[in-house]
Amino acid sequence: MADIQQSPHPIYVAGEFKTAVDTLAVFSPYTQQCVFRTFTAGADEYEAAVTAACAARRSMRDLPVYERFRILAETAQGILAHRDELAVIMAREAGKPLKTANTEIERAAQTFQTAAEEAKRLPGEVLSIDWHRSGLHKDAIVNYFPVGAVAAITPFNFPLNLVAHKIAPAIAAGCPIVVKPASKTPITALTLAKIIDRAGLPKGALSVLPMDRAGGNRLVTDPRFALLSFTGSAENGWKMKQQAGKKKVLLELGGNAALIVSQDADVAAAAAKAVEGGFTYAGQSCIHTQRIYVERPVFEPFVSHFLDTMVKWVIGDPEKPDTDLSVMISERHAMRIESWVKEAVAGGATLLAGGTRQGCLYAPTVLTGVHRGMKVYAQEAFAPLVVIEPFTDFKVAVNAVNASNFGLQAGLFTFDSRQIRYAFQNLDVGGVLVNEAPSFRADHMPYGGVKDSGLGREGPKYAMMEMLEPKILVTDHRSGL
Ligand code: SIN
Repeated sequence: MADIQQSPHPIYVAGEFKTAVDTLAVFSPYTQQCVFRTFTAGADEYEAAVTAACAARRSMRDLPVYERFRILAETAQGILAHRDELAVIMAREAGKPLKTANTEIERAAQTFQTAAEEAKRLPGEVLSIDWHRSGLHKDAIVNYFPVGAVAAITPFNFPLNLVAHKIAPAIAAGCPIVVKPASKTPITALTLAKIIDRAGLPKGALSVLPMDRAGGNRLVTDPRFALLSFTGSAENGWKMKQQAGKKKVLLELGGNAALIVSQDADVAAAAAKAVEGGFTYAGQSCIHTQRIYVERPVFEPFVSHFLDTMVKWVIGDPEKPDTDLSVMISERHAMRIESWVKEAVAGGATLLAGGTRQGCLYAPTVLTGVHRGMKVYAQEAFAPLVVIEPFTDFKVAVNAVNASNFGLQAGLFTFDSRQIRYAFQNLDVGGVLVNEAPSFRADHMPYGGVKDSGLGREGPKYAMMEMLEPKILVTDHRSGL
């Protein structure tokens, strides 16, 4: 078990676990105590990692599929074998309740297993070329080749599975990768690096480097990387795209996901899912259920089911097995949402529950009567906050969902197939979930957004497509090929 009593956790540089000059203290957002120590990679470690990643391009490209499969599948097994250790690390460094951490561990294992299976289905096609007389006698095959070294920057909120969503497709596609995990949650990523190292990934193909912001910026601007994959805030992501030069850029950014509940819905089921979507991991997910639109005739029963369900949530210590909701990642974030809610109430919104803060712990909060300009409505809350508003016309509700700079996922509770079809056609998002909260994600789904929410899709198969590029071989039958 990783413990504060142990010496600092080494970082993973080009396939070796190493110390560095600068130490990095990791604090529990729940106790505010230093719970782990590791190192911040400096210029030397960065250079060693990138040089090794570039050198590993060929060996990763040529790594046979059965080896990719074995490494990925063994990593999936390794994650499950270390589940208790990983859960406690996440509870300590991320303040993630054990229950929620265990779900993430299952998901991360699934992400690696899915990538193992996708490695066997690398794309390729045979193409006829004689679509015009100029192509007479010619045929072609298209194979997909790894783009080269990948730079990845990952957030604190899913310190295991969002790292898995970078590394697993990179291995499956045959790309070396250098990952900068969030500075608040590096120990989970370093523990994953140990598991992958034991599975026998070629040395140099992976580095996990906790770094400061300047170090992270080097990953963005360094022309030796062929692709930058970033998960984090919209503000940072779009800035990075401008600074990334010629490399491809994959952005998984924020959202203020919405849920529509129509009058024919199973209102109790909708409320239960909405509570889960609104408050799991204190709402710190890009697909956190933030805006809920409920058709007028079922508005009161929905709110009442919602409030009855949420009061049953156990709030407190992330390391206690029955805790449902705990702290936000920092007091700064909790104070931000506290000020947004105060501003909304001062502007005429009604507080139905919550609105209080103790350090990093912000109480699950429900508002109604908000206006579109309010931050709690228009911006990404990334906090245990939902706003619930009534609607009378379904199409107007769909327009309200779309009246956002973001477009990651949206949910809809109804049994009316016309409404489902209308929503699917007209919601400007990357995914529509029916009779489910917008916060649902299965790890093999294409996942990503439109508008400010990002560029490209993750999910092993889809991230692999970003990490591969087609190359065509055109042959002439007359040459005997
Ligand atoms: C995210 O916050 O973007 C990831 C959400 C998830 O994987 O459930």
